[in-house]
Amino acid sequence: MNDFVTLIYKWYKLNKRDLPWRDDKDPYKIWLSEIILQQTRVEQGTGYFTRFTATYPSIKHLANAAEDEVLKLWQGLGYYSRARNLHATAKIISSLYDGVFPNDYKTILSLKGVGPYTAAAIASIAFNLPYPAVDGNIYRVLARYFGITTPIDSVQGKKEFQQLAEELLTEHDPGMHNQALMEFGALQCVPKSPNCTICPLNNSCHAFINNSISRLPVKEKKTKQRKRFFYYYIYDEGDSIIMDKRTGQDIWQNLYQLPLLETTNRLSDEALLKNQLPVSAASYSIKYISPEKKHVLSHQIIYSKTIYIEVMCNVNIPSPLIRVNKKDISKFAVPRLVEQFLNDAGLGD
Ligand code: ADE
Repeated sequence: MNDFVTLIYKWYKLNKRDLPWRDDKDPYKIWLSEIILQQTRVEQGTGYFTRFTATYPSIKHLANAAEDEVLKLWQGLGYYSRARNLHATAKIISSLYDGVFPNDYKTILSLKGVGPYTAAAIASIAFNLPYPAVDGNIYRVLARYFGITTPIDSVQGKKEFQQLAEELLTEHDPGMHNQALMEFGALQCVPKSPNCTICPLNNSCHAFINNSISRLPVKEKKTKQRKRFFYYYIYDEGDSIIMDKRTGQDIWQNLYQLPLLETTNRLSDEALLKNQLPVSAASYSIKYISPEKKHVLSHQIIYSKTIYIEVMCNVNIPSPLIRVNKKDISKFAVPRLVEQFLNDAGLGD
């Protein structure tokens, strides 16, 4: 056990990346970085972190922003509930705690969008509190090094890994400890084909010695992906197009999109041409139907096309749809899929 942490710390000292949130201990920045990194790789998240902290240097700045603006800055990162929760939590911290980030684990865990992993990461990195953070990277490192075959997504597995992580945590610098393990998982002990020949832990790693790297960690359930079919309509009115705001308990809540026809089965182009438009127009012509795009989310696969129609006179748009001048389209936060369709149609930035 001691060997393991000693080797990891040594590796971290030599290989630690210089990341912007490692420059200071401002809990706001640690919180923001952890929320960004929940489902995003460091390479992609760093630019977002820098733009967020430049736009909103403090919790109060973030709390005073409009939600649409926060979502726009988050555009492209996915899992947009993270941005909505971040904004809602900034408002709460601002009003309840006068903008001062809470410094105890229980209160941190009570914040919207903060689960046990994120609470432990913030508590340890920002406040030096001894909580082990067990994320996907750390599950993999521990499963391999200690040869644990209990599924990581089982109740028993969660308990076992949590207990081991607690035993491994040394008191003197829990923030460094957690980041060293995460970094080792992200850079050296990677999910696919890790280069174990250069790994300083290889002569005591259970999985390497037993040739079981590719079988660990074990997962119980395979996530089932739901198939959905989205047909977006670009209503070209000359100077403007029609957009819609997504509401309801579904993906991309509060983001904007194009008028949408959703089906449970794929529609042929012939069927699409015969289909009623989502918003009726008196006089129009269909210019093209785009090739299909496949957009993969964690639990859903979306197959999507756009239908580009030129309308001869402005259509009557029922609320909550809106008419948007072409030069203003880029001000709206849209899912990446819609952004790509808009770009393909020459309506992007
Ligand atoms: N992933 C999640 N949190 C991280 C951190 N603080 N540094 C690097 N990668 C991370």
